[in-house]
Amino acid sequence: MTELTWLGHGSWLVHTGTHTLLLDPFLNDSPTAPLKADCVPADYILVSHGHSDHVADCAAIARRTGAAVISNFEICQWLSKQGVKNTLAHNLGGGSTHPFGRVKLTLALHSSALPDGANGGNPSGFLLWLADGVIYFACDTGLFSDMKLIGAAGIDLAVLPIGDLFTMGPDDSIEAIKLLAPKRVAPSHYDTWPPIAQDAAAWAERVRKETLAEPCVVPPGGKISL
Ligand code: NI
Ligand code: MN
Repeated sequence: MTELTWLGHGSWLVHTGTHTLLLDPFLNDSPTAPLKADCVPADYILVSHGHSDHVADCAAIARRTGAAVISNFEICQWLSKQGVKNTLAHNLGGGSTHPFGRVKLTLALHSSALPDGANGGNPSGFLLWLADGVIYFACDTGLFSDMKLIGAAGIDLAVLPIGDLFTMGPDDSIEAIKLLAPKRVAPSHYDTWPPIAQDAAAWAERVRKETLAEPCVVPPGGKISL
């Protein structure tokens, strides 16, 4: 059984039953993270882009756990310079197959500068093909019509930002759900700080009324089974 845990903001843990994947670790400085970087497990770390609210704890966790980091070329290079030994550099549209399943980097409409100003390449989302189904993490992005192509993968669970301001907000997330046509959808990247506060219950009600997807809203630390 595959189980997702929301670690607050854009951070997620995916336990596949055999492996643990950690997405965009932002824990020690996050006001909503339910655990800290020194105790989070990881076999693989996925990093969508270079902003500090996504890479902040990546190098420390990768050094401690020896986890393989899956990200774009520029972020992998930047992490290597910080002593991260195991990186798998990808670029947009490229994927790779692992013991847990397959991962592919998808388009994201965002930016990606690293905390020290280094070039963080292009931002991405992730499509994951796991034994129990297909997960799409849109990560930080605005709405784009190629989400229809991403949805052609047949998505069991889509994780979409709804915070507005830095990413798409609730209105555009509803349009994204229509394009992606996932079976279920979970909100992300909201309620971390007041500027991205959202009413997740109201969003879930709109998802039920306006789309065919089932909303899955959990608090930080909450779990979703695939
Ligand atoms: Ni960002
Ligand atoms: Mn962000």
